[in-house]
Order: sequence, then C-alpha cells, then structure tokens
Amino acid sequence: MKFFIDTANVEEIRKAHDMGLIDGVTTNPTLISKEGRDFRPLVSEICEIVDGPVSVEAVSAKSEDLVAEARTLSEIHENIVVKIPMTFEGLRAVRILTSEGIATNVTLIFSPTQALLAAKAGATYASPFIGRLDDVSHVGMDLVEQIIAIYDNYDFNTLVIVASIRNPIHVLEAALMGADIATIPYTVLEQLAKHPLTDVGVERFLDDWKKIPKK
Ligand code: E4P
Repeated sequence: MKFFIDTANVEEIRKAHDMGLIDGVTTNPTLISKEGRDFRPLVSEICEIVDGPVSVEAVSAKSEDLVAEARTLSEIHENIVVKIPMTFEGLRAVRILTSEGIATNVTLIFSPTQALLAAKAGATYASPFIGRLDDVSHVGMDLVEQIIAIYDNYDFNTLVIVASIRNPIHVLEAALMGADIATIPYTVLEQLAKHPLTDVGVERFLDDWKKIPKK
C-alpha cells in the first residue's frame, strides 16, 4: 500500500518524507491557496522533496483547455500528475492526455460508475472522496469497495487513491480492502503512529531501566 500526503505545506511534506512514510503528494486548489505562495515555485519545491507522483489540479472547464493546462503543468516536473475533474469534458481530456503519456488523476469521484468511466478513459489514478461522502451520510468506504471490485473484474490498470481521508479508521479500512493508495493529511499520519498504551509502556520501561544497577 502506498501513502501519499494530502497537503501543499512543504514543512509537513518534509517531515513525513524524512520519516520515510510517503510515496507521493496530492494537492488541490484549496490546499495550495492555504500556503499563500506563488503556485509554480511551490509545486517545484514539493517535487524536489518527494521522489514520487505529485498531483496538481487543472481548473479549466472545456476539454481542450484542460489538455492545454495539463501540458503546461506537466512541464514543471517529470513527477507531475494532473488532476482532472470527473466530468465529460474531463474524461475527454484524460483520453488525450493518456495518449500523450501525461499521468492523470481523476478527482472528485463520488460514485462507482464515475470510477468505471475514469478507468475506461485510461486514467492513471482515480480518487474517490470518502470523507465528503461520510459528511452527507453515505458510507464513503462502500464506494472504495465497489471500485476495487469493478477494477479487479476487468483488470483495469487505474490505481485507486482513497482521498478525503479524515481519520485513522479510513486508512485502516482502505488497507483491509487492498486500496492501492491512501492520500492522508499530516495530522492523520501522526494519529496512525500513536497509541496511549505505547506511551505508557515506553514510560514504564524507562522508569524500570533506571532501577537496574549498571556497572
Ligand atoms: C485529494 O486528492 C484531495 O486533495 C483531498 O483528499 C480532498 O479532501 P477534503 O475533502 O478533506 O478536502
């Protein structure tokens, strides 16, 4: 299972990378806007930190504009993956970009049939948004289960990125289902490592170690 970090914050990316925990990065316009920095240098810096796919979003509406934007984005760095919205125009753009060898990540997927279309268009990655489904009382992880079943049925090469992750249970369930990738916010990465019994255990062992006579 691969872990991507879902942030545009270079400090978070660096910390997660230094821990050896991440294989790639996903960003979106909301995450980029939080950084208050110029787009291109920020994305270039991220690409220099992580030797793996870095998703950045194309924001055009028409397929020809999405294709033009994606070509420009892909010139920033060889690891750029272009996020394309899950629309008909987006699917047309994915088809063209795939034929040109530009990696795509179809984003804002909320149904299994959308994921099926993304795979048929030749997307490199498909991103179901789990937390946002949970927010509107749909079980987000059910969608991941269905997408994995569909992709397995037909041996699609499109990789599933479980996105909009809000807590460690999302990561656990994604791992149990065999999802290819989870893209995880930094705070959730930290939560994954923590357990109160580990903290208590470490403290007790340290205390007892002090009681041992040492030459
Ligand atoms: C994924 O690529 C997106 O950047 C992200 O997971 C969106 O998550 P949100 O619902 O927390 O905004």
